[in-house]
Amino acid sequence: MHIPFTKPYWGDEEIELVIQSIKTTSGIGDGPSTKILIQKLQLLLDAPYILPVTSCTHGLELILASLQLGKPDEVIVPSFTMSSTANAVILSGALPVFADIEPDRYTIDPEDVKRCITPYTKAIILVHYAGMPCLMEELLAIAKQYHLFVIEDAAHAIGATYKGKALGTFGVAGAFSFHGTKNICCGEGGVVVTKNKKLSDVMEIYRANGTNRREFLKGMIDRYTWVGKGTSFFLSDILASILVAQVEKIPVINARRMQIARTYTQAFEDYGDVVALSAVPSYAQPNWHIYGIRFKKEVHAALFIKEMHKKEIGVSTHYVPLHDSPMGIQLRKLRISCYRETADSAYFREPSPLEVAFFSRRLPVTESAARTLVRLPIYPGLTDQELHYIIEEATKILRSFVRRL
Ligand SMILES: Cc1ncc(COP(=O)(O)O)c(C=O)c1O
Repeated sequence: MHIPFTKPYWGDEEIELVIQSIKTTSGIGDGPSTKILIQKLQLLLDAPYILPVTSCTHGLELILASLQLGKPDEVIVPSFTMSSTANAVILSGALPVFADIEPDRYTIDPEDVKRCITPYTKAIILVHYAGMPCLMEELLAIAKQYHLFVIEDAAHAIGATYKGKALGTFGVAGAFSFHGTKNICCGEGGVVVTKNKKLSDVMEIYRANGTNRREFLKGMIDRYTWVGKGTSFFLSDILASILVAQVEKIPVINARRMQIARTYTQAFEDYGDVVALSAVPSYAQPNWHIYGIRFKKEVHAALFIKEMHKKEIGVSTHYVPLHDSPMGIQLRKLRISCYRETADSAYFREPSPLEVAFFSRRLPVTESAARTLVRLPIYPGLTDQELHYIIEEATKILRSFVRRL
């Protein structure tokens, strides 16, 4: 039995809407399907400003560029994330500073965030890993104390909430992904959400090649023109039409994912000697974008993956820590060297040995999670038969690990 790691949950509704969109529109952004999508997401997220974009990556770039950050600003990001999170910071001209994650749910560790704060810190990007909320209370308190923007990389988090409030709507802005691997998807796509009208207005201009096209579309002006910096991040209306059907399915998709997660947890909870599972805190309503099991021994994780692949079951590790990637290492050196470059200003000065040590430090939880966390198939199209086959094969391997302890 071949079981892929992930599969979109598309059906006749998506096909119908795409055909309709092709027959009746040219597919350009902000068309009729996009308008319906925006209304549906306004309701779901309880937020007034929704900007469909080509990807979550572009959504993050849009937010960072519109907040007008730049050198010597610093933005704290978790190291356990996709390059998109940190690239958005670099492309804005600011410098990403990598923080560690907490070991239970792999979201940014508030204690480590505090260690990363300098007079130049302007923002924190929170990644709700696996659709599980970050430790919001602690993080929002830190942001308030140090006057930092909170930006949410909610790539994984559509339909997930913290104390009933949608993830992605806690900070100044949030970005979701509708990439083909996500809970709802249109191949490549994303959306930015904000409750801040001023920021939304800036983002609308940036997203439209720096023009006031939106005012033109609203009939407020009779020609649109170049009014600022920008690029084109519009989501095609054809892709938006797929999302119109997908948003409707969020309750069904996330309920099935939860059911699968519960079945996995029941099956694996007796193997606590070899694996750790994430518990769901009472404040969290995750969307189970990812189901991960964390091996206590690195060698077990590698062996588990090898054995599951032999059975044609799609399992996978996740991110290579950004601080330890070739680009991350270069950046950390840059951070040291940019202190050294121009010793005459307050910021650009010789770093102290303590500072050099800080930029070179290890992030132990991130590094361990990268080696020991293994993701299992979880999507609504996974049949009960497939699920039981995965569990049967996985528990055989886990039992063999327990025997050899
Ligand atoms: C945490 C995180 N942020 C951003 C992205 C980028 O999303 P997209 O593929 O929509 O650009 C991903 C992709 O999976 C991700 O995992």
